[in-house]
Amino acid sequence: MTETSQPATRPGNPRFSSGPCAKIPTFTLDKLSDAALGRSHRAAVGKTKLKDAIEGTREVLGIPADYKIGIVPASDTGAVEMAMWSMLGARGVTMMAWESFGAGWVSDVAKQLKLDATIMEADYGQLPDLSAVDFTTDVVFTWNGTTSGVRVPNGDWIPADREGLTICDATSAAFAMDLPWDKLDVTTFSWQKVLGGEAAHGIIILSPRAVERLETYTPPWPLPKIFRMTKGGKLIDGIFEGATINTPSMLAVEDYLVALDWARSVGGLQGLIKRADANARVIWDFCDTHGWIANLADDDATRSNTSVCLKFTDDRIKDGAAFAQAVAKRLEAEGVALDIGAYRDAPAGLRIWCGGTVETADVEALMPWLDWAFNAEIAAQ
Ligand SMILES: Cc1ncc(COP(=O)(O)O)c(C=O)c1O
Repeated sequence: MTETSQPATRPGNPRFSSGPCAKIPTFTLDKLSDAALGRSHRAAVGKTKLKDAIEGTREVLGIPADYKIGIVPASDTGAVEMAMWSMLGARGVTMMAWESFGAGWVSDVAKQLKLDATIMEADYGQLPDLSAVDFTTDVVFTWNGTTSGVRVPNGDWIPADREGLTICDATSAAFAMDLPWDKLDVTTFSWQKVLGGEAAHGIIILSPRAVERLETYTPPWPLPKIFRMTKGGKLIDGIFEGATINTPSMLAVEDYLVALDWARSVGGLQGLIKRADANARVIWDFCDTHGWIANLADDDATRSNTSVCLKFTDDRIKDGAAFAQAVAKRLEAEGVALDIGAYRDAPAGLRIWCGGTVETADVEALMPWLDWAFNAEIAAQ
């Protein structure tokens, strides 16, 4: 067999990591020159920027005026943990998971909070039965499973008149998918994902019902300071107006503000969704026309448009994990795709980030390289 020759065109930007994700296409460090560096985040200049980050999030994501938005420590993990530790235990709990991040929340609730939750799990590539969820309980789920590339298709399975709260980890969904705010009581994400921001800060979004829970329920376990959203039974309003619990990075805040501006310039949320859809479509079409690769998602309606996860399906492959790693390594060595190996706990394969900061031309340029690396690795086996 002859090795296919190398494609002529390389992606302009080879960064297809699923987090931290590619920065906005117009990014340069000097865009951050207006950062309030060396100033107190509680001074007017710092507080104004934090407030702008909150209200910019509301504007771009279309979050209702009566929802609270806070910037919190420890990225998305911090935001999810503070929600679970502050609110769960008031009623029954359903934990849903179909990949490793969701599984992590299941484990924390069962082993750390020691709650007797109903656990609904599905294998990589699938979703649990959404029609079987008991919404008299609080329900914790991940909108887009970053490590399996499987997302819920919409919010239709969540009743408007639910009794429990929904707690949604939307870290690889926010800014790439429509999120039905009326169906979500707590929503979290981190800056390092779809807008290509910096890590360390998370966003938590609370519906009025979530605020009510916080103000009427005190969990039986101790809460560290960085999880506390109430004082004396009342919401600490400052957290949701730019007075963060502890000191934020004003450089990361500036970077997020710059990314929000870019998001506005490409048409806001709908523009971002269109970009992610177009990127993912390039890979979906490639899979449709190449028999040796397939989407990890079993059902097309649940395929992610951000973390596109792929598996190799060719009978000639002897060791699936080694093969996938070798393909990823080959592409990295050529400088055409960085960080596209499947997540460490996920089935062997590739994961190509398609969020809005990635240019469609770069995904298009990558596809012939995938073909090249696959054939080269088959020949090398
Ligand atoms: C679905 C999901 N949840 C949580 C996390 C953790 O995010 P962070 O490291 O920003 O806390 C990630 C990161 O990739 C994720 O994809």
